[in-house]
Amino acid sequence: MPLLHIDVLTAVPEIFESPLRSSILKRAQAKGIFTIGIHNLHDYSPNGRIDDYPYGGGAGMVIRIDVVVRALRNLKEKTTYDEIILLTPDGELLTQALLNRLSLCQSLLLIAGHYKGIDDRIRHFVTREISIGDYVLTGGELPALVLIDGLVRLLPGALSDGTSALEDSFQEGLLAPPVYTRPAEFEGLRVPEVLLRGNHQAIQAWREQMRWERTRQRRPDLYAKAQATAPPPGKSVPPSEPGASA
Ligand code: ADE
Repeated sequence: MPLLHIDVLTAVPEIFESPLRSSILKRAQAKGIFTIGIHNLHDYSPNGRIDDYPYGGGAGMVIRIDVVVRALRNLKEKTTYDEIILLTPDGELLTQALLNRLSLCQSLLLIAGHYKGIDDRIRHFVTREISIGDYVLTGGELPALVLIDGLVRLLPGALSDGTSALEDSFQEGLLAPPVYTRPAEFEGLRVPEVLLRGNHQAIQAWREQMRWERTRQRRPDLYAKAQATAPPPGKSVPPSEPGASA
């Protein structure tokens, strides 16, 4: 049994090919941690036509509700989904906290709209609507891939040995510390001394300090939230107002 199964309903299945055949998404499938089914909406239309003109006029085409619901019911006969998710710019914003929660699911159905969108009645047939940001893309396929990528890397065993998704940016609401590799000096830019000395306790403390420092400088909004739950290391009270010296 995989840890997570995802089915995707899309009018453009080819968009998913390369990302699913590369890197961590490919390896997670090879390890059996994650399985995915990409389903072409065109296969659920009697005449292969999935869209029609919008009622009330206007430019662009709208994906028909009967086609999407036929596909959805067909898939639901085979799988019980924990969530049926519509990718749409007017959905709930995707965050690390939402990814963490969804990564505990066993099976998800993602619906990616395309063209002008799906007939609005689709909202009666989904359990959740997700947006990946306040901008509009040509369809829900790339947002679905963003969601899939963000979920799969959280599954135990998906990342290479010794790497933990818990050390990411945004876990605990903080950004990740900087990383370096050889050479120790490049064009006058030196790797911080503490990382070269091999004192693991000092390295851990430095990394923790950098997470707070980076977050304060770059994302005062996140810093304020993180301070409210856990003060920075070595401080029993918050050191400054968020963004005060950013
Ligand atoms: N479809 C088009 N733009 C989108 C976005 N920002 N998030 C989710 N789905 C979308």
